[in-house]
Amino acid sequence: MKTQVCIIGGGPSGLMLSQLLHLKGIETVVLERQTRDYVLSRIRAGVLEHGFAKLMREAECGERMDREGEIHEGFFVARGEQMQRVDLHAHTGNSVMVYGQTELTRDLYEARDRMKGIVIHQAEDVQPHDLTTDKPYVTFRHNGVDERIDCEYVIGADGFHGVSRRCIPKDVLREVEKVYPFGWLGVLSRTKPVSPELIYSNNERGFALCSLRSQVLSRYYIQVPLTDKVEDWSDEAFWAELKRRLPAEVAERMITGPSIEKSIAPLRSFVAEPMRHGRLFLAGDAAHIVPPTGARGLNSAASDIYYLYHAMLAHYQRGDDSGLDGYSAKALARVWKAQRFSWWMTSILHTFPGTSDYDKKLQQVELDYLFSSTAAQHSLAENYVGLPF
Ligand code: FAD
Ligand code: DHB
Repeated sequence: MKTQVCIIGGGPSGLMLSQLLHLKGIETVVLERQTRDYVLSRIRAGVLEHGFAKLMREAECGERMDREGEIHEGFFVARGEQMQRVDLHAHTGNSVMVYGQTELTRDLYEARDRMKGIVIHQAEDVQPHDLTTDKPYVTFRHNGVDERIDCEYVIGADGFHGVSRRCIPKDVLREVEKVYPFGWLGVLSRTKPVSPELIYSNNERGFALCSLRSQVLSRYYIQVPLTDKVEDWSDEAFWAELKRRLPAEVAERMITGPSIEKSIAPLRSFVAEPMRHGRLFLAGDAAHIVPPTGARGLNSAASDIYYLYHAMLAHYQRGDDSGLDGYSAKALARVWKAQRFSWWMTSILHTFPGTSDYDKKLQQVELDYLFSSTAAQHSLAENYVGLPF
């Protein structure tokens, strides 16, 4: 098989790039290790910055998002019994979109189907080759048959555990990482959300987040030790702990119900540099991970895709390679800003085991400052709605 751009990974990054390039007449093939149902069963992001929503529209996939997604012009930060609203719209003139990653991935798959795009599921042992030549190719096995795709470029959009990043030689790749000593236990339930806007709660028992997917579907998270297992948490235990970590007036309003999904996600910060090696370009979680606190993960993937899309267009339409040559540096500059913001949000909102009295005091002062200063709220709002691409 032959194509112009072979994309490894059929998550939001890979599908979005495939769709955008297709609309400009550039051929792609997407190779995905899992089944479509499996990809669509993963409950992940819920908050999209406006830049991501714009890209969905440009990819001709924004119709259902604009119909069913919710525009949020603010959110709350709670601290014990105190609540502070951060007015995104007043500070930035912008807002965010609440629309689940599952739904946007479904929309991207449907668009690829509609346009007869090639997405190969259950592609096993995917392996890129000859990345530093001008004739790279990718091998894989499908339905027990060995296959090969000859291409001009390979995109590694295969997430943190993918194969692409590992193709960059060890003496070229630099990886930096910060692993947090806790995870988030998330529950999805068919209940009316406790608040129409998100609540990020700092509490001495640990962090909690009240989020939603719609007015009948709630998504809640609590900070848990890494040693906890999903089986350790019955629904009753989860709801009781969530309520303890929220202001009393919020907890009293909480409507509980059976969980329809429950999972634990560890918190990690990670950046791999460079994001290009020869004809391989990394995008999204394949190159960088943030702790989910600032809702930046998927949104950082969006800026990679935006830069890569425009760089590919310049190459194919005008023979201009400056975008491809500058991709890694440009993408990483924005990635690091998202790293800083996610680290900061994580550090002010969670309880850190074994932390010093000095660090506890600093966290309290950070929150004092945030609750009392419109300049601090402005900075939070500016980062939360997304810095410009
Ligand atoms: P992925 O979604 O990981 O997709 C990669 C794809 O590649 C997968 O489908 C995988 O099966 C496939 N793959 C892997 N290896 C191979 C291989 N060898 N061959 C072929 N295919 C392969 N972000 C936000 O912006 N806002 C939020 O509110 C938010 N909330 C989150 C909440 C949680 C609990 C979690 C865990 C994450 C959250 N994120 C959030 C982060 C966001 O989900 C990720 O950043 C996003 O999924 C990245 O998309 P991606 O396409 O780059 O990678
Ligand atoms: C959700 C996840 C986040 O990490 C976040 O900051 C906000 C919302 C969510 O899954 O709804």
